[in-house]
Amino acid sequence: MRYAPITDRLHGLGGAKWEIHHLARKMKSQGAEVIELTIGEPDVPPPDRLLKAAKDGIDAGRIGYSNGRGEPGLLAALAAKYTRRTGRTIDPDQIIALPGTQTALFAVMMALLGPQDEVIVGDPMYATYEGVIAATGAKIIPVALRPEKGFRLQAEDVAAKITPRTRVVFVNSPHNPTGAVLRDAEIAALAALARQHDLWIVSDEVYEELVFPGVTFRSPFDRADLADRVVLTSSISKSHAAPGFRSGWAVGPSAFAEKLLPLAEAMLFGNQPFIADMTALAILEPSSVAQGMAARFSRRAALVHARLDGVSGLRVPIPEAGMFAVVDVRALGHSGDGFARALLQEKGVAVMPGESFGAGLKGWIRISLTQQDALIDEACTRIIAFAQAQQGAAA
Ligand SMILES: Cc1ncc(COP(=O)(O)O)c(C=O)c1O
Repeated sequence: MRYAPITDRLHGLGGAKWEIHHLARKMKSQGAEVIELTIGEPDVPPPDRLLKAAKDGIDAGRIGYSNGRGEPGLLAALAAKYTRRTGRTIDPDQIIALPGTQTALFAVMMALLGPQDEVIVGDPMYATYEGVIAATGAKIIPVALRPEKGFRLQAEDVAAKITPRTRVVFVNSPHNPTGAVLRDAEIAALAALARQHDLWIVSDEVYEELVFPGVTFRSPFDRADLADRVVLTSSISKSHAAPGFRSGWAVGPSAFAEKLLPLAEAMLFGNQPFIADMTALAILEPSSVAQGMAARFSRRAALVHARLDGVSGLRVPIPEAGMFAVVDVRALGHSGDGFARALLQEKGVAVMPGESFGAGLKGWIRISLTQQDALIDEACTRIIAFAQAQQGAAA
């Protein structure tokens, strides 16, 4: 049978990146004792009041069809959130509710890109970005995020990759996997480029509320001079520890939302009213569960840095946000994948190979900070033993 070209474009972009995670799960199911530091699930349940709101919504019969844009109460709550944040009026007609940032990114990229177009994205990048871009037929143009620049996307590096085919600069701050958070001046420089070359900026802000103490989140969406060319995507997956509810959104200029609407209707025709109600309640105020996670993940990142940085040549930059720390293992002569596989087999610690996030993290690993401090500490002890043995073998 014949399949559409999109299936070829997406072939191999899914599960292969998560192979070590699946291997770790398999080993665990067979009784092995494995410390799993692969994926980034929130380490707490969603707040009780949100679970109750969702249950109350079901009991109240909020389980009918919605409309393609989203429930009016949710759109109003999102408009209020972004009006507060930007200081300019954001209207409900600028917003489309979608099931999670992932779906929002897919829909947004489908609305902005086609074959022949190019999209510039920082490398390393979140593991699904390649697929989201490949789905559109556009070409991904990776730009190395430099460790010496704190892995923050630099306008000069973007400028070097712009061609007449460039349509979108894809920004992710706070960044997965590196935890980098863009500064005002860096956003201003990207803004100037976007205006000069008439580009869209797509801003994945799913980690907005997981910034570590003392760090300030800034968004290109909040700049009035970019109001006609920034689309943001976000959700309650991280901010409210609620990934399973699949509740997210895209916000951009009204004209953009108008174009996105038929696509959203074709894909979904609206998400669930009881989840929309619960989401509207969630985003009324800053999330206390997010503050708790940010404090814990920041503490654990500091622990990983204190224990591993400098040991056998390992390097651990301190992340500023998110759920992960990245570790440079190149001094041990391994690829990230080789290191992660051997570490799992020999020491029962599962981490993600940096290569799963692009060539920019070749020779690195990513450690999830979502396990208890004691487990992370024990994982560090095992990583140190592993690294020292590798170093000894190489000497
Ligand atoms: C950078 C980034 N974007 C998007 C997503 C997907 O988020 P959602 O659960 O809202 O679809 C994730 C999930 O880990 C992520 O890390």
